[in-house]
Amino acid sequence: MASQGIRGPSYRFIQGNAKEMWNMKKEAMSKPMSLSQGHNIFHKLQPNQEYWAKIYGKNYLQWLGTQPQLVITELELIKEVLNNKDRVYLKSGAQRFVKKLFGDGLAVTEGEKWDKLRKLANHFFHAENLKGMVPAMMSSVEMMLERWKNYEGKEIEVFEEFRVLTSDVISKTAFGSSYLEGKKIFDMLRRLTFIVTMGFLKIKLPIISKFTKDEIESDMLDREISNSIMEMVKKREDKVTSGDEDNYGSDLLGGLIKAHHDADEMKQISMEDLITEVRSFYFAGQETTNSLLAWTVLLLAIHTDWQEEARKEAVNLFGQHNPIADGIARLKVISQIINESTRLYPPVVAFSRHAAKEVRLGNLNLPAKMELVISNLPLHLDPQIWGEDVYEFKPERFSEGVVKATNNNSAAYFPFGMGPRTCVGMNFALTEAKIALSMILRRYSFTLSPAYVHSPYAFITLQPQHGIQVVLQPL
Ligand code: HEM
Repeated sequence: MASQGIRGPSYRFIQGNAKEMWNMKKEAMSKPMSLSQGHNIFHKLQPNQEYWAKIYGKNYLQWLGTQPQLVITELELIKEVLNNKDRVYLKSGAQRFVKKLFGDGLAVTEGEKWDKLRKLANHFFHAENLKGMVPAMMSSVEMMLERWKNYEGKEIEVFEEFRVLTSDVISKTAFGSSYLEGKKIFDMLRRLTFIVTMGFLKIKLPIISKFTKDEIESDMLDREISNSIMEMVKKREDKVTSGDEDNYGSDLLGGLIKAHHDADEMKQISMEDLITEVRSFYFAGQETTNSLLAWTVLLLAIHTDWQEEARKEAVNLFGQHNPIADGIARLKVISQIINESTRLYPPVVAFSRHAAKEVRLGNLNLPAKMELVISNLPLHLDPQIWGEDVYEFKPERFSEGVVKATNNNSAAYFPFGMGPRTCVGMNFALTEAKIALSMILRRYSFTLSPAYVHSPYAFITLQPQHGIQVVLQPL
């Protein structure tokens, strides 16, 4: 790579650059940001990338332990990798602890298995199916707003509130249960996420890592999550066997159980795959939308003029009635606000792939197994694409669509990814977010609490380190 002009921090025995990455991350997490400097969160979130890209150039090489990683920020190269026309850039496979979160499920797997799982998921997220989920989403928001009555005129921490909301929505729509029923699984997944994130930069010899406290605890959580999911599956199967129900249900869980029992081997999925899918969807369906809603409310609490615009739109469209599926598609201002919020605070910032074989990427020859690390933030925050006001919250930049907002570089905006592995739950997440925002805005106005400390950090998804506190006023 050096002979091709690619430079980077020097490799250190076994650790590579993991220790430096960890130290930079720790340092960044220890210092909150000032909101008066605009919304440039790249240096806080991925400090090593910002620092090394300045020294070594837009594309540079770093080492995670003994694994070389090419960090790329050039749009043309990112497009080539994520669009993956020749199917040579594969998902990096879940490594170490990460495997315990996502297993070999839809978000990670490749080939025929991916085709099969993606088809099942596409079916669940089909537009007509989504319409049918609107009432369940509304009833979850309604429950949240009931709780909010206790906070009128007071401060409320919305990140936790949206955790309960998004957990309830995915539990109801995908698994036919509720937040409380799924709570045990969510709690265990949360703890596992913590271990995964903290373990990401801890490089250990494989033989030692088998016996660490984290490894033992994550193994235990892994087993317990699987057992809880198995119980859910068994309950549904028993109902069909006993004749109480004549099918496994029309939600995602029902679709997965049906596929598990499919007589056609090509369509069949194993019990292990079924469990992995359920846990991936519990995770992906909750954490991401939780993040989107929390950052959007933060931005609206600061920019009360946009809050007012969004409220006017929600009131004009829905009056005193709850949102209806067709109306949701007509929320123009709220869509622009969500676009701008996911530009500045994308819930998922990091993407990883590896080259399946030796391959030519742009002008570079990559060896097989080279890992590619991509982030959407450098592009979401590039002044050449968005203009000098790039760090400012200006939803109006999206008023004439993404192409215009990006100065004809629409691929530079990819909060939901791009190419074949683009987010399968995008429309689900956007529908849920629009319903929640419309219903909140019609009932409350809110301002940022003086207690708020601005400290975004990446904990697999983008999260507020100290929560997001706003003061709630009933309208
Ligand atoms: C604001 C909300 C969300 C954001 C920003 C988001 C973001 C993303 C991104 C960036 C990817 C692509 C990752 C890559 O290329 O490596 C992705 C994939 C995925 N997302 Fe989402 N997501 C969101 C909501 C959801 C929801 C609600 C679900 C499910 C209920 C979901 C399920 C998935 C799955 C299963 C994949 C893997 C798809 C595949 O590999 O074929 N996401 N998401």
